[in-house]
Amino acid sequence: MTYSAKKAVRSVTPGAIQAKWQRGEKITMLTAYDYPTARLVDSAGVDIVLVGDSLGMEELGYSTTLPVSMQEMLHHVKAVRRGTLRALLAADMPFLSYQINEDEAVRNAGRLIQEGEANAVKIEGGTAVAPLVRRLVTIGIPVIGHIGLTPQSVNVMGWRVQGRTEEDADRLKADAEALQEAGAFAIVIELMPKMLAGELTNALSVPTIGIGSGPLCSGQVLVTSDLIGLRQGDGGGGYRHVKKYVDVSAVISDALAEFRREVEGGLFPGDEQSFD
Ligand code: KIV
Repeated sequence: MTYSAKKAVRSVTPGAIQAKWQRGEKITMLTAYDYPTARLVDSAGVDIVLVGDSLGMEELGYSTTLPVSMQEMLHHVKAVRRGTLRALLAADMPFLSYQINEDEAVRNAGRLIQEGEANAVKIEGGTAVAPLVRRLVTIGIPVIGHIGLTPQSVNVMGWRVQGRTEEDADRLKADAEALQEAGAFAIVIELMPKMLAGELTNALSVPTIGIGSGPLCSGQVLVTSDLIGLRQGDGGGGYRHVKKYVDVSAVISDALAEFRREVEGGLFPGDEQSFD
């Protein structure tokens, strides 16, 4: 067993997440794609650290999640593993890592657990992926479902709130039930009207983790770079569902500009940064 795998044994478990929800406490999940962010998120006491495929936009500069590959996910999951000592570490299954056939999907989920040392995988989709979820759970891979706005389907659904029509809401309820039935231990519900999210949450016997789905979910997830304001200026952030708790990009920009000014003005390095 590797050093980080030994640490992972002490991670928050799916059972602990469900027990927390059963006690009526809210579940927290945040993204991380690198070691220092994982250390910060883990130290903040968040329950689940997610290496989301939002990696594509937030870290790699892609315009959607679609180009993210298994290699890229694994590279970042390994870094986040090294920084996650306590929280449950979940890894997204990227586009085309689970849609081609079930055996390939099991192999790829297994790589995220075996090579990346994640504790769970997250999969987008409802009824269509339920048989895969059941198979993964059967072989010991905990799964978080993901319904509502599923960014890997952006070319079909766009970036808009889901479940606004009765037909769509019924489909989402069926999806959530299918995932629960298949053994998902929690379900992310993204961009849904708050009343529908509340209805779903009340109907399920597994916790829902909302993003842009209002306060009635069993817990909340955000993309960390959105809540710390890391991508300001390049079109990132600014979504209605995000609360920006700090504007880190302004702090960083000021520091970088000051460095440039000090070097150009002969102020850095000073005596205290120099050796005799
Ligand atoms: O990829 C991601 O970061 C996600 C969260 C937004 C839930 O799926």
